Amino acid sequence: MQLLYKIRKRYKQTSYPVLSSQEAYRQWADKYPPLPHNPLMQAEHEGMKNLMPNLQNCTVLDLACGTGRWGKWALENGANFVIGIDNSISMLKSAELAQRIQADMTTLPLASNSIDVVLCGLALGHLPSYDMQATFHEFSRVLKPKGVALISDFHPILAWTGAQRTFQGKDGKTYAVQHHIHSYADYFAASQKANLQLTGVQEPVQPQTQKPLVLVLRLTKS
Ligand SMILES: C[S@@+](CC[C@H](N)C(=O)[O-])C[C@H]1O[C@@H](n2cnc3c(N)ncnc32)[C@H](O)[C@@H]1O
Repeated sequence: MQLLYKIRKRYKQTSYPVLSSQEAYRQWADKYPPLPHNPLMQAEHEGMKNLMPNLQNCTVLDLACGTGRWGKWALENGANFVIGIDNSISMLKSAELAQRIQADMTTLPLASNSIDVVLCGLALGHLPSYDMQATFHEFSRVLKPKGVALISDFHPILAWTGAQRTFQGKDGKTYAVQHHIHSYADYFAASQKANLQLTGVQEPVQPQTQKPLVLVLRLTKS
């Protein structure tokens, strides 16, 4: 704790009370439009688009879809069919997607080899490492051969230097969402164990400081 305090002090970070993902998104849902609505999401959006496979006629899974940002984008960009999955009923209620399922990322209620592209934006950091690994195994199981999973996460450097993912709660106070740091090495190891090949990396930066904000990875099923 003392080390964390020193790091935060050094980088002049304020520490906000942390809420579980379920509680945070219950409170955040009605102020979470399905578009990039802050600088981090704007950077992430560009990074994801740079690595996006062709979605023409594809079946796409928007995993941890929230209010359906990536699923909506996929439908506007050629996808044939989009399924949104999230474990937060509040986020799903606001999602602008016809096919929505409440489920956990680690156990997908989908058939094996049924999905062309998985899009998973800014959600894996909510999972501890064993659940992140389980989710990678699920990517591998549900993807068709040569299928692609495109994932993004709050950049580990930001998290290591004390930054938090914050939002304004229902009481008007600022809260952070629980976050688990996954390094590039963690993701590389998880992809190897799940028989997924790392086929693209982007680290979009904050324009003023040039510091990386987000890690974006493209994984291809062998
Ligand atoms: C930062 S939001 C991102 C939403 C959307 N992907 C986007 O980029 O706009 C993270 C989402 O992950 C969902 N989530 C967190 N843990 C999850 C889990 N174990 N299974 C499914 N969804 C989860 C949350 O409910 C929330 O909707």
